[in-house]
Amino acid sequence: MDSAPELTIQGADGAYPVIIWPGALTDALPAFVRARRFSRVAVITNDTLAPLYGQALVDRLPDAFLVTVPDGEAYKTLSTATALYGELLAGGCDRASLVIALGGGVIGDLAGFVAATFMRGVAFVQAPTSLLAMVDASLGGKVGVDLPQGKNLVGAFKDPLAVFADTETLRTLPPVEWRCGLAEVLKAGLIADPPLIDHLLTRGPDPIEDVIARAVRVKKAVVEQDRLESSVRAYLNLGHTFAHAIEGVSGYTWKHGEAVAVGLVAAARLSVRRGLASPDLAETVERAVTALGLPARYAGLEPAALWDAMRHDKKWQSGTARFVLLRAAGAPCMAADVPRADVIAALESLREGA
Ligand SMILES: NC(=O)c1ccc[n+]([C@@H]2O[C@H](COP(=O)([O-])OP(=O)(O)OC[C@H]3O[C@@H](n4cnc5c(N)ncnc54)[C@H](O)[C@@H]3O)[C@@H](O)[C@H]2O)c1
Ligand SMILES: [Zn+2]
Repeated sequence: MDSAPELTIQGADGAYPVIIWPGALTDALPAFVRARRFSRVAVITNDTLAPLYGQALVDRLPDAFLVTVPDGEAYKTLSTATALYGELLAGGCDRASLVIALGGGVIGDLAGFVAATFMRGVAFVQAPTSLLAMVDASLGGKVGVDLPQGKNLVGAFKDPLAVFADTETLRTLPPVEWRCGLAEVLKAGLIADPPLIDHLLTRGPDPIEDVIARAVRVKKAVVEQDRLESSVRAYLNLGHTFAHAIEGVSGYTWKHGEAVAVGLVAAARLSVRRGLASPDLAETVERAVTALGLPARYAGLEPAALWDAMRHDKKWQSGTARFVLLRAAGAPCMAADVPRADVIAALESLREGA
């Protein structure tokens, strides 16, 4: 690779760059901040990433300080946001300050929500360190926190000034988080980039900068198109109706990305069963999922219980069974009123030991 892939995303107030580059935290991000004037720079991260990358980043930035929260989705809350507002004030932040989110999707959503609301909004930069955050959570401007009643129930739209994805940081990402990010990469390929699926099948996720850039282009296309014609954003939910049901019914013992992997196979099988796609599609999806080290099957969960969980999904307005399905790789469609029997049959076929 001899040049950084040049990518921008059209946001509410103009385009922002997405820099995917090994070492971006060392050179490109500090240069970006130094070229602008911020009264203070708050780097928000968690206690896993602070010693790995947080302090080193702060040391390279002018007028910067580190703010650390505990690691985990359990801390993506209003009470953590309240604590962060206090830290920003104590650190001397005002309306001319910058917030940098350094971490996975949890930190991106939380720090983005704080940046969107502190003093009615301050400048914001995303520095995603997980593969999932690089290809998904850091893009598109959705930020927010969880409530006890459910995930992401309070939020805002907050576009960053820029996204800096330093691929060097992926070296310390736990293997399971790596695989979970690959599930979202595969999802991107299935929505709009079939050659990405061939690439994953023949060469694996390598070089990762190229693979990330391709997944970013898919999300870019979807969120930009959605600004004009709202509905295509729903395609990003491919595999996710199933995944959310698996996560919920299992009591959140399943990792999101692993549930998405099963969900992608389930969506492909349901597409075949509904006569939308040919059987090769389901075979290709299953082969890709397995090649990436992700599960294509689940055990122990009742298909009927999964169906009930989907029925209560807030995305199913007025209780009609709506799924993102595929006519082929790269050709998603919305299917309404999908019969329960077809959904149950697709789920039953993926149940281990069934
Ligand atoms: N805003 C959006 O559009 C959007 C889209 C998808 C997901 N999300 C949100 O993203 C979150 C999930 O993101 P995630 O999967 O990145 O989870 P995460 O932020 O919890 O990160 C996963 C784990 O990996 C660790 N980690 C991250 N980068 C690391 C690195 N380079 N080295 C070592 N450890 C590292 C984290 O500390 C954490 O323990 C959820 O809260 C979800 O709701 C948001
Ligand atoms: Zn997802």
